[in-house]
Amino acid sequence: MSRTELYRPQFHFSPAAHWINDPNGLVYYAGEYHLFYQYHPESTVWGPMHWGHAVSRDLLQWEELPIALYPDEHGTIFSGSAVIDWHNSAGFGPEAMVAIFTHHTRTSETQTQSQSLAYSLDKGRTWTKYAGNPVLPPTNRMRDFRDPKVFWYGPAESGHWVMCLAAGQLILFYKSPNLIDWEACGGFGFGFGHGSVEGVWETPDLFRLPVEGSDESRWVLFVGVNRGAPAGDSGQQYFVGHFNGETFTSENPKPVALWADYGADSYAAQSWSDVADGRRLAIAWMNNWGYAKQIPTGVWRGAMTLPRQLSLAATAEGIRLRQAVVDTSPLSAGQPFRVGSVTIPAGGVYTPEAESGSLWKIQAEMVGQGDGDGCGLRLRWTDGSTVTVTWRRGALLVDRRLSGVVDFNPDFAALHSGPVSPADGRLSLQLFVDTSSLEILAQGGLLSMTEQLFPSAGGTVQVTFFAGDGPVTLADLSIQRLVPARFA
Ligand code: FRU
Repeated sequence: MSRTELYRPQFHFSPAAHWINDPNGLVYYAGEYHLFYQYHPESTVWGPMHWGHAVSRDLLQWEELPIALYPDEHGTIFSGSAVIDWHNSAGFGPEAMVAIFTHHTRTSETQTQSQSLAYSLDKGRTWTKYAGNPVLPPTNRMRDFRDPKVFWYGPAESGHWVMCLAAGQLILFYKSPNLIDWEACGGFGFGFGHGSVEGVWETPDLFRLPVEGSDESRWVLFVGVNRGAPAGDSGQQYFVGHFNGETFTSENPKPVALWADYGADSYAAQSWSDVADGRRLAIAWMNNWGYAKQIPTGVWRGAMTLPRQLSLAATAEGIRLRQAVVDTSPLSAGQPFRVGSVTIPAGGVYTPEAESGSLWKIQAEMVGQGDGDGCGLRLRWTDGSTVTVTWRRGALLVDRRLSGVVDFNPDFAALHSGPVSPADGRLSLQLFVDTSSLEILAQGGLLSMTEQLFPSAGGTVQVTFFAGDGPVTLADLSIQRLVPARFA
């Protein structure tokens, strides 16, 4: 299959054709990472939702499989999760892969949402809908009642399944012994004044992570909020706190919203269930509801972020999420261009003599940002499209106003800002440059900024570092050219 169209991601998952949004049903089983996703197989804009399906063994190369879940008499198939039912609690069969998803119907007056099951006994290749669907019927009080995330809580013999569900600006919790019979047990969110509530809450996830350098752990609640994110419209907030098997309590100061990403293009993040080595791995839809239906791609529309490993760091501000992109070394083309240390004088620039290419992993530490204009780097495509990343005082700024095609939506051409405050004055930066995206992890992954870009004619990309009104030293610069991942 040709993957050479303008803007076609070369090392991010995108479907061969048609529309995708949220990642769904992320589960690891028998050596495969499953990625299901909201999919409209007949159009490049959102419509009646199905679950598309792809699998990977290394989280970089993906094989697209036939559609897993089609709409049925209960409705279309909205977002949800998947688990391996190791102890056959539902009675579907040994090691059944069970998908828990929202059935959605809409009339001109209202919409109805309920939660349903489907299972597969052949590694996700074929699916049977549960005959007793829905397992959680709609409630006429709640119009928004969707996106079930299910996991097992507690010991194998005495624990229970937990479902987190988005309902307006609440996350509701249910528990079950068998995935079929659910009992309400808790709630978190609006009314208690937590986090960002400008938009509707969607696609929750909840998991426990150790706090680095201590023997403590915390629960992290991911909540997509479809309006009011730092870069505009939809974005990914998270809460750090405690979960007792029935409900979540946050230890964030109440009105403070923590954001998993300060760029415009990371939404509906979900983590993989059942990862064999215990890593918590997550991926997000690399898009924004503000303009998702208008991005100027070709036969496909939508892509996923790079998968990331999540951890928690104790910082001066409190416990915060740290993200690390999974190992991309299988995509490295030869040796990186490396420089141990280079100082750029005030007002000066430095253009590394790296080979020419269009796919890059760039890493550096910047020491000494200057007081005024700040310092940073510029990516410039052969067609002149430019993105500028500037470290200025406590912020990292990403300017994509001149990044190429920006006029498909008035909100796309913008400058986005995320907080950075490296205690030792050294800012680490890692950038992944694909044909139509830039992912930045700064300060050891405490700040993530994910941005789509549409350089008009593509071409190769050159990086130039610049100093503002004071000198800046680049330490441990590494510029690694990447090759396209294999997509089948
Ligand atoms: C989030 C979302 C979910 C919903 C799905 C529909 O992006 O709005 O809440 O299940 O997309 O495609």
